[in-house]
Amino acid sequence: APVVVAIDGPSGSGKSTVSRAVAARLGLSFLDTGAMYRAMTWWMLTNDVDVEDADAVAIACGKPVIVSGTDAAGPTITVDGQDVSGPIRGPEVTSKVSAVAAVPQVRARLVELQRGCAEVAERGIVAEGRDMGTVVFPAATLKVFLTASQAARAERRAAELRAKGVDEATIAAMAADLTRRDAADSSRETDPLTQAPDAVLVDTSDLTLEQVIDRIVGLVQE
Ligand code: CDP
Repeated sequence: APVVVAIDGPSGSGKSTVSRAVAARLGLSFLDTGAMYRAMTWWMLTNDVDVEDADAVAIACGKPVIVSGTDAAGPTITVDGQDVSGPIRGPEVTSKVSAVAAVPQVRARLVELQRGCAEVAERGIVAEGRDMGTVVFPAATLKVFLTASQAARAERRAAELRAKGVDEATIAAMAADLTRRDAADSSRETDPLTQAPDAVLVDTSDLTLEQVIDRIVGLVQE
């Protein structure tokens, strides 16, 4: 069976960077499922769907055509053929994505797309998100649950933004939003982020990116 590496963890645990690097090292495809929830949210906002209205979101969520390009060397995401990789990282989408991701019909639709990506991945896939090991790929070859202390996660996000030249006021606002989003994601009944019983826990607080990548590549090759 093709290799499926399922990587789950909270915001700022480094899972996107780590997962993509692991996929590149192993010659596997890469899927950022958070980007799909963000793409869905971007479409809702662009089409004036009230994202606080779960029924409206549920009715509309079958409409957008969301396509994830899974090349680890250059992942892409389009909605109805339009490249949305920039706008899905913006503050509007970031502040609304938790509400959209809480709608069961949205999750059902995106989970189906995620499994489809794995089916067509030639050599296998590294999929990262919050419910990869529990819901989407319960039979994954390897499941990893990444954690990091709140302080380490906030510091990483700030460093990323600083490197992009973002000003300190915006960085502080993004830090507050990370805390709010953690709370919003974890307080909702449908919070998907739980460690699968058979997942390997990796605490990244005191590890460098390279150390985390080496550790996971080692686990896949075991
Ligand atoms: O990296 P960060 O956690 O900031 O964001 P992301 O991975 O792009 O995910 C954005 C949001 O999508 C999360 O805050 C969750 O609300 C949601 N999400 C989800 O519910 N299930 C997934 N498998 C992935 C993301």
